[in-house]
Amino acid sequence: MHGQRCIEENSVVILYVDFKTLRVLRVTKTVDTKDGKKVPNIYQTIYGPLNVSEVIGKPYGARIELKKGFVYLMFPSPELWTLALPHRTQILYSTDISLIIANLELKPGKIVCEAGTGSGSLSCSILRTIMPCGKLHTFDFHDQRVECAVEEFTSLGYGEFVVAKHRDVCQDGFGVELTGKVDAVFLDLPHPWLALTAATKVLKNCGRIASFSPCVEQVQKMCVELRSNGYEQLKTIECLVRESVVKTITLTTPSLCTAKNRTEEPLPKRMKTDGSDPRDGGEATFFSMPVTSCAGHTGFLTFATCMKNRS
Ligand SMILES: C[S@@+](CC[C@H](N)C(=O)[O-])C[C@H]1O[C@@H](n2cnc3c(N)ncnc32)[C@H](O)[C@@H]1O
Repeated sequence: MHGQRCIEENSVVILYVDFKTLRVLRVTKTVDTKDGKKVPNIYQTIYGPLNVSEVIGKPYGARIELKKGFVYLMFPSPELWTLALPHRTQILYSTDISLIIANLELKPGKIVCEAGTGSGSLSCSILRTIMPCGKLHTFDFHDQRVECAVEEFTSLGYGEFVVAKHRDVCQDGFGVELTGKVDAVFLDLPHPWLALTAATKVLKNCGRIASFSPCVEQVQKMCVELRSNGYEQLKTIECLVRESVVKTITLTTPSLCTAKNRTEEPLPKRMKTDGSDPRDGGEATFFSMPVTSCAGHTGFLTFATCMKNRS
């Protein structure tokens, strides 16, 4: 699918309905009814029905007119996939994902281990980064999550770059075949330190490890275990996104003379919404200010480097 410009039968499309509504659309001409009959695939949206077979051959990004509005057919980039994917677990979002990719120093060709796979949100971003010559080995001890992830990775075009296995990594590790071959390990587990011995076995010297934990007590325990297993360059970060609001306001030029005259002028019936006094004159200008509240805590990200050759 990667590099593919036009939508084909069996492609996955992210249907952009509006700013808050993204849907995963599987492009098939027909769907099966409960009694086993094949009927044309008609996808219902708030803007009217979409005949799915009509999107075949359209370029990604195309706008499709429906009876009461329009939708866009978007390519399933990891960022859009994260926003639209079916949740089987809690997932990681792009803010944390970008820090993980950067701090694990991932790039094309890297070999990565991940546990657990969960809903595959992080996996897709890792895959896009390490393609076309890297490999992701992802593990989860929940068999249905592994099955769903494999099906999704294949339909998104990542199949040949990923091995997804059903395994408890705390008990059974990542597999002897990976010993000393892995560039980076990522752990999104309740007790990441229980997988640390296994992670150390598969990591190369100077390989990177990261773990995501919502609670600081988990971070403390993980850091103690990292230190006693010879890891260095420990760093824990939390990323909170603070947005800025941009408004147009009128900046006034204070003048004693104007202030004197103002007492004689009647107050205008309507004051400006930004609180400035129109009798002061001034020019409309853009103004930006950080909002005072933001989306809360997701988790702490702990990173470290595996040092194997120290005496
Ligand atoms: C929060 S989810 C991971 C979400 C994933 N990072 C994402 O972005 O979609 C945690 C997953 O770890 C799995 N898990 C927990 N303990 C495990 C273990 N010891 N071995 C393998 N998988 C485990 C759970 O089944 C669950 O699917």
